[in-house]
Amino acid sequence: MTQNTPKKGLARNTANYGDRDFALYLRRSFAKSMGYSQAMLDRPVIGIVDTRSDYNNCHRTVPELVEAVKRGVFAAGALPMAFPTVSLCEPSLFPTSMHYRNLAALDTEAMMSAQPMDAAVMISGCDKTVPAQLMAAASADVPAVLLVTGPMLATPFQGERLSACTDCRRYWAQYRAGNVTEERIGEIEGRLATTAGTCGVMGTASTMACIGEALGMIPLGHGSIPAVHADRLRAAEEAGALAAKFIENPIRPSQIITAHSVENAVRVLLALGGSTNALIHLTAVAGRRGVKIDLNRLNELSESTPVLVDLKPTGEGYMEDFHAAGGMPALLWELRDLLHMDCIDVTGVRLGDRLREPAFVDRRYIRARAEPVSPVGGLVALFGSLAPRGAIVKRSAATPSLFEVEARCIVFDGLEDLANRIDDPDLDVTKDDIMVLKNAGPLTPAGMPEAGYLPIPRKLALAGVKDMVRMSDCRMSGTAFGTIVLHITPEAAAGGPLGLIETGDRVRMSVQNRTLDLLVDDATLAARRAKWQPPAKARRGWDRIMTEQITQADEGCDLAVLRGE
Ligand code: FES
Repeated sequence: MTQNTPKKGLARNTANYGDRDFALYLRRSFAKSMGYSQAMLDRPVIGIVDTRSDYNNCHRTVPELVEAVKRGVFAAGALPMAFPTVSLCEPSLFPTSMHYRNLAALDTEAMMSAQPMDAAVMISGCDKTVPAQLMAAASADVPAVLLVTGPMLATPFQGERLSACTDCRRYWAQYRAGNVTEERIGEIEGRLATTAGTCGVMGTASTMACIGEALGMIPLGHGSIPAVHADRLRAAEEAGALAAKFIENPIRPSQIITAHSVENAVRVLLALGGSTNALIHLTAVAGRRGVKIDLNRLNELSESTPVLVDLKPTGEGYMEDFHAAGGMPALLWELRDLLHMDCIDVTGVRLGDRLREPAFVDRRYIRARAEPVSPVGGLVALFGSLAPRGAIVKRSAATPSLFEVEARCIVFDGLEDLANRIDDPDLDVTKDDIMVLKNAGPLTPAGMPEAGYLPIPRKLALAGVKDMVRMSDCRMSGTAFGTIVLHITPEAAAGGPLGLIETGDRVRMSVQNRTLDLLVDDATLAARRAKWQPPAKARRGWDRIMTEQITQADEGCDLAVLRGE
Protein backbone atom coordinates (compact mmCIF):
# COMPACT_ATOMS: atom_id res chain seq x y z
CA MET A 1 0.00 0.00 0.00
CA THR A 2 1.36 3.43 -0.86
CA GLN A 3 0.85 6.76 0.84
CA ASN A 4 -1.63 7.74 -1.91
CA THR A 5 -4.04 4.88 -1.16
CA PRO A 6 -7.25 6.17 0.52
CA LYS A 7 -6.89 5.54 4.22
CA LYS A 8 -9.39 2.97 5.44
CA GLY A 9 -9.42 0.44 8.24
CA LEU A 10 -6.10 -0.17 9.91
CA ALA A 11 -4.41 2.31 7.57
CA ARG A 12 -6.10 5.21 9.36
CA ASN A 13 -4.20 7.25 11.94
CA THR A 14 -0.85 5.56 11.56
CA ALA A 15 1.99 6.87 13.70
CA ASN A 16 4.52 9.00 11.90
CA TYR A 17 8.04 7.64 12.05
CA GLY A 18 8.89 9.59 8.92
CA ASP A 19 7.81 6.50 6.97
CA ARG A 20 4.06 5.86 7.12
CA ASP A 21 4.21 2.66 5.11
CA PHE A 22 6.49 1.20 7.75
CA ALA A 23 4.10 2.32 10.50
CA LEU A 24 1.27 0.42 8.79
CA TYR A 25 3.52 -2.60 8.21
CA LEU A 26 4.34 -2.60 11.90
CA ARG A 27 0.69 -2.21 12.91
CA ARG A 28 -0.41 -5.10 10.72
CA SER A 29 2.35 -7.39 11.97
CA PHE A 30 1.25 -6.81 15.55
CA ALA A 31 -2.42 -7.20 14.62
CA LYS A 32 -1.54 -10.55 13.07
CA SER A 33 -0.39 -11.76 16.48
CA MET A 34 -4.10 -11.73 17.38
CA GLY A 35 -4.74 -14.35 14.72
CA TYR A 36 -6.50 -12.22 12.12
CA SER A 37 -6.12 -13.31 8.51
CA GLN A 38 -4.84 -10.88 5.90
CA ALA A 39 -8.35 -10.73 4.41
CA MET A 40 -9.76 -9.59 7.75
CA LEU A 41 -7.07 -6.98 8.22
CA ASP A 42 -7.82 -5.58 4.76
CA ARG A 43 -11.42 -4.85 5.79
CA PRO A 44 -12.65 -1.45 6.95
CA VAL A 45 -12.75 -1.28 10.76
CA ILE A 46 -15.71 -0.53 13.04
CA GLY A 47 -14.67 0.34 16.58
CA ILE A 48 -17.00 -0.82 19.34
CA VAL A 49 -16.83 1.11 22.59
CA ASP A 50 -17.12 -1.59 25.24
CA THR A 51 -18.12 -0.31 28.69
CA ARG A 52 -18.54 -3.63 30.45
CA SER A 53 -17.44 -3.47 34.07
CA ASP A 54 -17.97 -5.69 37.08
CA TYR A 55 -18.89 -2.49 38.91
CA ASN A 56 -21.58 -1.51 36.43
CA ASN A 57 -24.81 -3.49 36.83
CA CYS A 58 -26.51 -1.33 34.21
CA HIS A 59 -23.91 -2.54 31.69
CA ARG A 60 -24.21 -6.23 32.58
CA THR A 61 -25.41 -7.13 29.09
CA VAL A 62 -22.65 -5.29 27.23
CA PRO A 63 -20.72 -8.49 26.36
CA GLU A 64 -23.67 -9.99 24.50
CA LEU A 65 -24.41 -6.64 22.87
CA VAL A 66 -20.80 -6.48 21.65
CA GLU A 67 -21.22 -9.94 20.12
CA ALA A 68 -24.44 -8.91 18.38
CA VAL A 69 -22.85 -5.70 17.06
CA LYS A 70 -19.98 -7.82 15.71
CA ARG A 71 -22.46 -10.01 13.82
CA GLY A 72 -23.85 -6.95 12.10
CA VAL A 73 -20.39 -5.64 11.27
CA PHE A 74 -19.07 -8.95 9.93
CA ALA A 75 -22.17 -9.49 7.82
CA ALA A 76 -21.60 -6.07 6.25
CA GLY A 77 -18.03 -6.99 5.31
CA ALA A 78 -16.14 -4.94 7.89
CA LEU A 79 -13.92 -5.88 10.83
CA PRO A 80 -15.27 -5.12 14.33
CA MET A 81 -12.78 -4.17 17.01
CA ALA A 82 -14.08 -3.70 20.53
CA PHE A 83 -12.09 -1.64 23.00
CA PRO A 84 -12.71 -0.78 26.65
CA THR A 85 -13.19 2.67 28.08
CA VAL A 86 -14.00 4.11 31.48
CA SER A 87 -17.34 2.73 32.70
CA LEU A 88 -19.36 4.69 35.26
CA CYS A 89 -22.05 3.11 37.42
CA GLU A 90 -24.19 5.64 39.21
CA PRO A 91 -24.24 4.22 42.75
CA SER A 92 -20.68 2.84 42.70
CA LEU A 93 -18.60 6.00 42.56
CA PHE A 94 -17.22 8.41 45.14
CA PRO A 95 -17.70 11.31 45.49
CA THR A 96 -20.20 11.01 42.66
CA SER A 97 -20.36 9.66 39.11
CA MET A 98 -20.71 13.24 37.83
CA HIS A 99 -17.14 13.89 38.91
CA TYR A 100 -16.01 11.36 36.30
CA ARG A 101 -18.38 11.97 33.38
CA ASN A 102 -15.85 14.25 31.69
CA LEU A 103 -13.09 11.69 32.27
CA ALA A 104 -15.15 9.05 30.46
CA ALA A 105 -15.88 11.55 27.67
CA LEU A 106 -12.20 12.44 27.37
CA ASP A 107 -11.12 8.79 27.34
CA THR A 108 -13.72 7.85 24.73
CA GLU A 109 -12.98 10.83 22.49
CA ALA A 110 -9.24 10.18 22.65
CA MET A 111 -9.56 6.47 21.81
CA MET A 112 -12.05 7.08 19.00
CA SER A 113 -9.73 9.71 17.55
CA ALA A 114 -6.43 7.89 18.06
CA GLN A 115 -7.25 4.32 17.03
CA PRO A 116 -7.88 3.30 13.44
CA MET A 117 -11.61 3.04 12.79
CA ASP A 118 -13.87 4.07 9.93
CA ALA A 119 -16.91 4.35 12.20
CA ALA A 120 -17.97 3.26 15.65
CA VAL A 121 -20.75 1.78 17.73
CA MET A 122 -20.78 3.18 21.26
CA ILE A 123 -22.44 1.02 23.91
CA SER A 124 -23.58 2.64 27.13
CA GLY A 125 -26.63 2.93 29.35
CA CYS A 126 -26.14 4.36 32.80
CA ASP A 127 -26.66 8.02 33.67
CA LYS A 128 -23.18 9.32 32.88
CA THR A 129 -21.95 6.89 30.25
CA VAL A 130 -24.58 7.92 27.68
CA PRO A 131 -23.79 11.66 27.91
CA ALA A 132 -20.05 10.94 28.03
CA GLN A 133 -20.28 9.00 24.76
CA LEU A 134 -22.43 11.64 23.10
CA MET A 135 -19.92 14.32 24.14
CA ALA A 136 -17.05 12.19 22.86
CA ALA A 137 -18.72 11.51 19.52
CA ALA A 138 -19.59 15.18 19.09
CA SER A 139 -15.94 16.13 19.55
CA ALA A 140 -14.18 13.23 17.83
CA ASP A 141 -16.67 13.59 14.96
CA VAL A 142 -16.14 9.97 13.97
CA PRO A 143 -19.32 8.55 12.35
CA ALA A 144 -20.96 6.70 15.23
CA VAL A 145 -24.16 4.97 16.30
CA LEU A 146 -25.17 4.98 19.96
CA LEU A 147 -26.50 1.72 21.35
CA VAL A 148 -27.94 1.83 24.85
CA THR A 149 -28.20 -1.21 27.09
CA GLY A 150 -31.92 -0.53 27.65
CA PRO A 151 -34.11 -0.31 30.74
CA MET A 152 -34.71 -3.08 33.28
CA LEU A 153 -38.14 -4.62 33.73
CA ALA A 154 -40.30 -3.71 36.70
CA THR A 155 -40.85 -6.50 39.23
CA PRO A 156 -44.37 -7.57 40.21
CA PHE A 157 -44.38 -7.61 44.02
CA GLN A 158 -47.33 -8.17 46.33
CA GLY A 159 -49.85 -6.40 44.16
CA GLU A 160 -47.66 -3.57 42.90
CA ARG A 161 -44.70 -3.20 40.57
CA LEU A 162 -41.26 -2.08 41.71
CA SER A 163 -38.27 -0.72 39.81
CA ALA A 164 -35.21 1.38 40.47
CA CYS A 165 -35.27 3.94 41.59
CA THR A 166 -38.36 6.06 42.24
CA ASP A 167 -39.71 3.16 44.28
CA CYS A 168 -36.40 3.01 46.22
CA ARG A 169 -36.93 6.62 47.27
CA ARG A 170 -40.63 6.17 47.99
CA TYR A 171 -40.01 3.23 50.29
CA TRP A 172 -36.98 4.84 51.93
CA ALA A 173 -39.01 8.00 52.69
CA GLN A 174 -41.70 5.79 54.27
CA TYR A 175 -39.03 3.96 56.27
CA ARG A 176 -37.66 7.31 57.55
CA ALA A 177 -41.20 8.32 58.47
CA GLY A 178 -41.59 5.12 60.50
CA ASN A 179 -44.25 3.62 58.22
CA VAL A 180 -42.08 0.75 56.91
CA THR A 181 -40.25 -1.69 59.17
CA GLU A 182 -36.57 -2.65 59.06
CA GLU A 183 -37.51 -6.13 57.89
CA ARG A 184 -39.78 -4.83 55.13
CA ILE A 185 -37.22 -2.33 53.79
CA GLY A 186 -34.68 -5.18 53.62
CA GLU A 187 -37.15 -7.30 51.67
CA ILE A 188 -37.88 -4.45 49.25
CA GLU A 189 -34.14 -3.94 48.67
CA GLY A 190 -34.04 -7.29 46.88
CA ARG A 191 -37.04 -6.54 44.63
CA LEU A 192 -36.16 -3.08 43.26
CA ALA A 193 -33.78 -4.15 40.48
CA THR A 194 -34.29 -7.77 39.47
CA THR A 195 -33.28 -7.79 35.78
CA ALA A 196 -30.37 -6.47 33.78
CA GLY A 197 -30.69 -2.94 32.48
CA THR A 198 -30.85 0.68 33.47
CA CYS A 199 -33.27 2.24 35.97
CA GLY A 200 -36.81 1.43 34.91
CA VAL A 201 -38.38 4.88 35.26
CA MET A 202 -37.94 8.15 33.38
CA GLY A 203 -34.75 8.89 35.31
CA THR A 204 -31.56 10.28 33.83
CA ALA A 205 -30.52 7.15 31.93
CA SER A 206 -33.92 6.74 30.27
CA THR A 207 -34.18 10.46 29.55
CA MET A 208 -30.74 10.42 27.93
CA ALA A 209 -31.68 7.40 25.82
CA CYS A 210 -34.76 9.29 24.57
CA ILE A 211 -32.60 12.37 23.97
CA GLY A 212 -30.19 10.18 22.00
CA GLU A 213 -33.11 9.29 19.73
CA ALA A 214 -34.33 12.89 19.55
CA LEU A 215 -30.85 14.08 18.56
CA GLY A 216 -30.61 11.34 15.95
CA MET A 217 -27.66 9.40 17.39
CA ILE A 218 -29.86 6.35 18.15
CA PRO A 219 -32.15 4.93 15.44
CA LEU A 220 -35.78 5.80 16.09
CA GLY A 221 -37.48 3.30 18.38
CA HIS A 222 -34.29 1.69 19.66
CA GLY A 223 -33.69 3.71 22.84
CA SER A 224 -36.41 2.22 25.02
CA ILE A 225 -36.22 -1.48 24.09
CA PRO A 226 -35.90 -3.33 27.42
CA ALA A 227 -32.44 -4.70 28.20
CA VAL A 228 -33.59 -8.31 28.35
CA HIS A 229 -35.78 -8.23 25.24
CA ALA A 230 -34.51 -10.11 22.15
CA ASP A 231 -35.17 -6.93 20.14
CA ARG A 232 -32.33 -5.32 22.10
CA LEU A 233 -29.91 -7.80 20.50
CA ARG A 234 -31.44 -7.21 17.08
CA ALA A 235 -30.95 -3.46 17.64
CA ALA A 236 -27.30 -4.19 18.42
CA GLU A 237 -26.88 -6.19 15.21
CA GLU A 238 -28.53 -3.38 13.29
CA ALA A 239 -26.23 -0.80 14.94
CA GLY A 240 -23.25 -2.79 13.67
CA ALA A 241 -24.69 -2.91 10.15
CA LEU A 242 -25.53 0.78 10.25
CA ALA A 243 -22.03 1.73 11.36
CA ALA A 244 -20.63 -0.34 8.48
CA LYS A 245 -22.72 1.72 6.04
CA PHE A 246 -20.81 4.81 7.20
CA ILE A 247 -17.72 3.41 5.47
CA GLU A 248 -19.10 4.42 2.07
CA ASN A 249 -21.46 7.16 3.24
CA PRO A 250 -20.10 8.74 6.38
CA ILE A 251 -22.59 10.74 8.42
CA ARG A 252 -20.75 12.58 11.14
CA PRO A 253 -22.06 13.63 14.55
CA SER A 254 -21.48 17.24 13.46
CA GLN A 255 -24.18 16.73 10.80
CA ILE A 256 -26.57 15.22 13.36
CA ILE A 257 -25.99 17.31 16.52
CA THR A 258 -27.05 20.76 15.33
CA ALA A 259 -28.92 23.75 16.78
CA HIS A 260 -32.17 22.30 15.40
CA SER A 261 -31.70 18.76 16.71
CA VAL A 262 -30.64 20.13 20.10
CA GLU A 263 -33.84 22.18 20.28
CA ASN A 264 -35.84 19.08 19.34
CA ALA A 265 -34.09 17.26 22.19
CA VAL A 266 -35.02 20.04 24.63
CA ARG A 267 -38.67 19.71 23.51
CA VAL A 268 -38.49 15.98 24.11
CA LEU A 269 -36.93 16.48 27.54
CA LEU A 270 -39.83 18.76 28.47
CA ALA A 271 -42.50 16.46 27.04
CA LEU A 272 -41.05 13.48 28.89
CA GLY A 273 -41.12 15.27 32.23
CA GLY A 274 -37.51 14.11 32.02
CA SER A 275 -34.57 14.32 34.37
CA THR A 276 -33.09 17.66 35.40
CA ASN A 277 -29.65 16.09 34.97
CA ALA A 278 -30.35 15.61 31.30
CA LEU A 279 -30.40 19.37 30.85
CA ILE A 280 -26.80 19.61 32.09
CA HIS A 281 -25.75 16.68 29.89
CA LEU A 282 -27.52 17.98 26.79
CA THR A 283 -25.93 21.39 27.39
CA ALA A 284 -22.52 19.70 27.50
CA VAL A 285 -23.18 17.65 24.34
CA ALA A 286 -24.45 20.70 22.45
CA GLY A 287 -21.54 22.75 23.78
CA ARG A 288 -19.13 20.34 22.10
CA ARG A 289 -20.60 21.50 18.77
CA GLY A 290 -20.70 25.17 19.78
CA VAL A 291 -24.49 25.12 20.31
CA LYS A 292 -25.67 26.95 23.43
CA ILE A 293 -28.81 26.10 25.38
CA ASP A 294 -30.17 29.39 26.67
CA LEU A 295 -32.24 28.95 29.85
CA ASN A 296 -34.55 31.78 28.79
CA ARG A 297 -35.24 29.81 25.62
CA LEU A 298 -35.85 26.74 27.80
CA ASN A 299 -38.58 28.72 29.57
CA GLU A 300 -40.14 29.71 26.25
CA LEU A 301 -40.11 26.12 25.03
CA SER A 302 -41.49 24.92 28.36
CA GLU A 303 -44.55 27.16 27.96
CA SER A 304 -45.41 25.62 24.60
CA THR A 305 -44.44 21.98 25.23
CA PRO A 306 -46.88 19.77 27.14
CA VAL A 307 -45.80 16.85 29.30
CA LEU A 308 -47.19 13.85 27.40
CA VAL A 309 -45.42 10.92 29.01
CA ASP A 310 -46.91 9.45 32.16
CA LEU A 311 -44.02 7.60 33.78
CA LYS A 312 -42.52 7.67 37.24
CA PRO A 313 -41.33 9.90 38.85
CA THR A 314 -43.75 12.39 37.22
CA GLY A 315 -46.55 9.85 36.68
CA GLU A 316 -47.23 6.14 37.01
CA GLY A 317 -45.67 3.96 34.32
CA TYR A 318 -42.28 2.33 33.75
CA MET A 319 -39.99 2.37 30.72
CA GLU A 320 -41.29 -0.99 29.48
CA ASP A 321 -44.76 0.62 29.36
CA PHE A 322 -43.39 3.57 27.39
CA HIS A 323 -41.77 1.22 24.91
CA ALA A 324 -44.88 -0.92 24.49
CA ALA A 325 -46.99 2.25 24.23
CA GLY A 326 -45.12 3.33 21.10
CA GLY A 327 -41.91 4.83 22.49
CA MET A 328 -40.17 7.77 20.89
CA PRO A 329 -41.75 7.32 17.42
CA ALA A 330 -45.18 7.86 19.00
CA LEU A 331 -44.01 10.77 21.15
CA LEU A 332 -42.29 12.55 18.26
CA TRP A 333 -45.38 12.06 16.11
CA GLU A 334 -47.45 13.72 18.83
CA LEU A 335 -45.01 16.65 19.00
CA ARG A 336 -44.46 16.92 15.25
CA ASP A 337 -45.73 20.47 14.77
CA LEU A 338 -43.25 21.67 17.44
CA LEU A 339 -40.18 19.99 15.96
CA HIS A 340 -37.61 20.88 13.32
CA MET A 341 -38.17 18.32 10.57
CA ASP A 342 -34.93 18.91 8.66
CA CYS A 343 -32.72 17.04 11.14
CA ILE A 344 -31.05 13.88 9.88
CA ASP A 345 -30.17 10.93 12.09
CA VAL A 346 -27.66 8.09 11.84
CA THR A 347 -29.66 6.64 8.96
CA GLY A 348 -29.21 9.90 7.02
CA VAL A 349 -32.99 10.41 6.74
CA ARG A 350 -34.72 13.68 7.69
CA LEU A 351 -37.00 13.53 10.72
CA GLY A 352 -39.91 14.58 8.53
CA ASP A 353 -39.37 11.47 6.42
CA ARG A 354 -38.81 9.16 9.36
CA LEU A 355 -41.99 9.95 11.25
CA ARG A 356 -45.11 7.92 10.51
CA GLU A 357 -48.48 8.00 12.19
CA PRO A 358 -48.29 5.11 14.67
CA ALA A 359 -50.78 2.29 14.24
CA PHE A 360 -51.19 1.98 17.99
CA VAL A 361 -50.44 4.22 20.97
CA ASP A 362 -51.24 3.27 24.54
CA ARG A 363 -52.65 6.54 25.83
CA ARG A 364 -52.14 5.54 29.44
CA TYR A 365 -48.46 6.28 28.97
CA ILE A 366 -48.15 8.54 25.91
CA ARG A 367 -50.94 11.07 25.97
CA ALA A 368 -52.57 12.84 23.05
CA ARG A 369 -51.90 16.57 22.77
CA ALA A 370 -55.50 17.28 23.72
CA GLU A 371 -55.16 15.35 26.98
CA PRO A 372 -51.66 16.02 28.30
CA VAL A 373 -50.30 15.07 31.70
CA SER A 374 -49.57 18.79 32.00
CA PRO A 375 -50.21 21.51 29.39
CA VAL A 376 -46.73 22.95 30.00
CA GLY A 377 -43.24 21.44 30.10
CA GLY A 378 -41.69 19.62 33.04
CA LEU A 379 -38.74 21.98 33.69
CA VAL A 380 -38.39 25.71 34.15
CA ALA A 381 -35.46 27.97 34.94
CA LEU A 382 -35.61 30.56 37.71
CA PHE A 383 -33.48 33.70 37.80
CA GLY A 384 -32.87 36.37 40.43
CA SER A 385 -30.50 37.66 43.05
CA LEU A 386 -29.95 34.14 44.41
CA ALA A 387 -29.40 32.63 40.95
CA PRO A 388 -28.08 35.28 38.54
CA ARG A 389 -27.31 32.66 35.86
CA GLY A 390 -30.27 30.46 36.64
CA ALA A 391 -31.56 27.52 38.65
CA ILE A 392 -33.82 24.65 37.60
CA VAL A 393 -37.03 23.32 39.08
CA LYS A 394 -38.83 20.23 37.84
CA ARG A 395 -42.36 21.50 38.24
CA SER A 396 -43.87 18.29 36.88
CA ALA A 397 -42.53 16.36 39.92
CA ALA A 398 -43.16 19.11 42.49
CA THR A 399 -46.03 20.29 44.72
CA PRO A 400 -47.86 23.22 43.05
CA SER A 401 -48.98 24.67 46.39
CA LEU A 402 -45.29 25.33 47.17
CA PHE A 403 -44.52 27.19 43.93
CA GLU A 404 -45.09 30.71 45.29
CA VAL A 405 -43.32 31.14 48.62
CA GLU A 406 -41.42 33.60 50.75
CA ALA A 407 -39.89 31.94 53.78
CA ARG A 408 -37.06 31.67 56.26
CA CYS A 409 -34.08 29.56 55.24
CA ILE A 410 -32.37 26.79 57.14
CA VAL A 411 -28.89 26.60 55.60
CA PHE A 412 -26.55 23.61 55.53
CA ASP A 413 -22.94 24.36 54.67
CA GLY A 414 -22.00 21.26 52.70
CA LEU A 415 -22.85 17.56 52.90
CA GLU A 416 -21.18 16.90 56.25
CA ASP A 417 -23.19 19.62 57.89
CA LEU A 418 -26.35 18.27 56.27
CA ALA A 419 -25.67 14.71 57.45
CA ASN A 420 -24.79 15.88 60.96
CA ARG A 421 -27.83 18.05 61.59
CA ILE A 422 -30.75 17.00 59.39
CA ASP A 423 -32.14 14.51 61.91
CA ASP A 424 -31.17 16.43 65.05
CA PRO A 425 -34.35 16.59 67.12
CA ASP A 426 -33.30 20.11 68.20
CA LEU A 427 -32.97 21.39 64.61
CA ASP A 428 -35.02 24.58 64.42
CA VAL A 429 -37.08 23.82 61.31
CA THR A 430 -40.73 23.81 60.32
CA LYS A 431 -42.48 22.52 57.23
CA ASP A 432 -42.83 26.12 55.99
CA ASP A 433 -39.09 26.82 55.98
CA ILE A 434 -36.89 26.57 52.90
CA MET A 435 -33.98 24.17 53.35
CA VAL A 436 -30.82 25.29 51.53
CA LEU A 437 -27.69 23.27 50.86
CA LYS A 438 -24.64 25.22 49.68
CA ASN A 439 -21.07 24.25 48.79
CA ALA A 440 -21.99 21.04 47.00
CA GLY A 441 -21.60 22.31 43.42
CA PRO A 442 -19.31 21.17 40.61
CA LEU A 443 -16.24 23.05 41.93
CA THR A 444 -16.36 21.45 45.36
CA PRO A 445 -14.78 18.15 46.41
CA ALA A 446 -18.37 16.85 46.63
CA GLY A 447 -18.51 17.18 42.82
CA MET A 448 -22.17 18.20 42.44
CA PRO A 449 -23.76 14.97 43.72
CA GLU A 450 -27.43 14.09 43.58
CA ALA A 451 -27.89 15.53 47.06
CA GLY A 452 -30.36 18.24 46.06
CA TYR A 453 -33.15 15.93 47.21
CA LEU A 454 -32.46 16.92 50.83
CA PRO A 455 -34.21 14.48 53.13
CA ILE A 456 -37.19 15.80 55.03
CA PRO A 457 -35.92 16.19 58.64
CA ARG A 458 -36.90 13.07 60.50
CA LYS A 459 -39.02 14.88 63.06
CA LEU A 460 -41.07 16.47 60.25
CA ALA A 461 -41.25 13.21 58.28
CA LEU A 462 -42.59 11.46 61.40
CA ALA A 463 -45.20 14.23 61.64
CA GLY A 464 -46.35 13.42 58.10
CA VAL A 465 -44.54 16.12 56.07
CA LYS A 466 -43.95 14.76 52.57
CA ASP A 467 -42.54 17.77 50.71
CA MET A 468 -40.77 21.03 51.49
CA VAL A 469 -39.02 23.63 49.34
CA ARG A 470 -35.37 22.64 49.05
CA MET A 471 -32.60 24.48 47.18
CA SER A 472 -28.96 23.82 46.36
CA ASP A 473 -26.12 24.14 43.90
CA CYS A 474 -26.08 20.40 43.31
CA ARG A 475 -28.26 17.96 41.38
CA MET A 476 -30.92 15.40 42.16
CA SER A 477 -31.56 11.98 40.76
CA GLY A 478 -33.80 11.87 37.72
CA THR A 479 -35.87 9.37 39.66
CA ALA A 480 -36.58 11.81 42.52
CA PHE A 481 -39.55 14.08 43.15
CA GLY A 482 -40.37 17.10 45.31
CA THR A 483 -40.31 20.91 45.23
CA ILE A 484 -36.60 21.12 44.67
CA VAL A 485 -34.56 23.94 43.14
CA LEU A 486 -31.31 22.71 41.64
CA HIS A 487 -28.15 23.83 39.85
CA ILE A 488 -28.16 27.32 41.41
CA THR A 489 -25.62 29.17 39.26
CA PRO A 490 -23.04 30.45 39.96
CA GLU A 491 -22.53 27.91 42.72
CA ALA A 492 -21.43 28.95 46.22
CA ALA A 493 -17.84 27.81 45.66
CA ALA A 494 -17.59 29.97 42.53
CA GLY A 495 -18.48 33.08 44.53
CA GLY A 496 -22.19 33.01 43.73
CA PRO A 497 -24.70 34.72 46.07
CA LEU A 498 -25.63 31.25 47.37
CA GLY A 499 -22.29 31.27 49.20
CA LEU A 500 -23.44 34.27 51.26
CA ILE A 501 -26.79 32.92 52.45
CA GLU A 502 -27.23 32.21 56.17
CA THR A 503 -29.85 30.54 58.31
CA GLY A 504 -32.60 33.01 59.08
CA ASP A 505 -32.37 34.85 55.74
CA ARG A 506 -35.55 35.04 53.73
CA VAL A 507 -35.88 33.81 50.15
CA ARG A 508 -38.72 34.46 47.73
CA MET A 509 -39.48 31.97 44.96
CA SER A 510 -42.08 32.41 42.25
CA VAL A 511 -42.31 29.59 39.74
CA GLN A 512 -44.97 31.57 37.90
CA ASN A 513 -42.67 34.60 37.51
CA ARG A 514 -39.51 32.45 37.16
CA THR A 515 -37.81 34.29 40.01
CA LEU A 516 -35.58 33.29 42.92
CA ASP A 517 -34.43 36.10 45.20
CA LEU A 518 -32.41 36.39 48.37
CA LEU A 519 -34.08 39.07 50.50
CA VAL A 520 -30.97 40.42 52.22
CA ASP A 521 -29.83 44.03 51.88
CA ASP A 522 -26.73 44.95 49.90
CA ALA A 523 -24.70 46.20 52.88
CA THR A 524 -25.16 42.89 54.73
CA LEU A 525 -24.21 40.91 51.64
CA ALA A 526 -21.14 43.11 51.06
CA ALA A 527 -19.98 42.52 54.64
CA ARG A 528 -20.42 38.75 54.21
CA ARG A 529 -18.62 38.83 50.88
CA ALA A 530 -15.62 40.59 52.42
CA LYS A 531 -15.20 37.56 54.71
CA TRP A 532 -15.88 34.92 52.02
CA GLN A 533 -12.98 32.66 51.02
CA PRO A 534 -12.89 30.50 47.88
CA PRO A 535 -12.36 26.80 48.56
CA ALA A 536 -8.84 25.38 48.31
CA LYS A 537 -7.98 23.78 44.96
CA ALA A 538 -7.47 20.04 44.81
CA ARG A 539 -3.75 19.29 44.93
CA ARG A 540 -3.26 16.87 42.04
CA GLY A 541 -4.62 14.52 39.41
CA TRP A 542 -8.11 14.44 38.00
CA ASP A 543 -9.50 16.38 40.96
CA ARG A 544 -7.09 19.22 40.20
CA ILE A 545 -7.97 19.21 36.50
CA MET A 546 -11.66 19.38 37.41
CA THR A 547 -11.28 22.32 39.81
CA GLU A 548 -9.26 24.22 37.23
CA GLN A 549 -11.39 23.41 34.21
CA ILE A 550 -14.98 22.63 35.10
CA THR A 551 -17.63 25.04 33.88
CA GLN A 552 -20.86 25.87 35.71
CA ALA A 553 -24.20 24.10 35.21
CA ASP A 554 -25.42 26.55 32.57
CA GLU A 555 -22.43 25.50 30.44
CA GLY A 556 -22.91 21.79 31.03
CA CYS A 557 -20.19 21.28 33.70
CA ASP A 558 -17.84 20.31 30.89
CA LEU A 559 -14.10 20.91 30.96
CA ALA A 560 -13.54 24.37 29.49
CA VAL A 561 -10.83 23.08 27.15
CA LEU A 562 -13.18 20.51 25.61
CA ARG A 563 -16.01 22.83 24.64
CA GLY A 564 -16.51 23.55 20.96
CA GLU A 565 -16.15 26.88 19.21
FE1 FES B 1 -27.49 2.95 36.09
FE2 FES B 1 -29.82 4.02 37.25
S1 FES B 1 -27.99 3.24 38.22
S2 FES B 1 -29.29 3.75 35.15
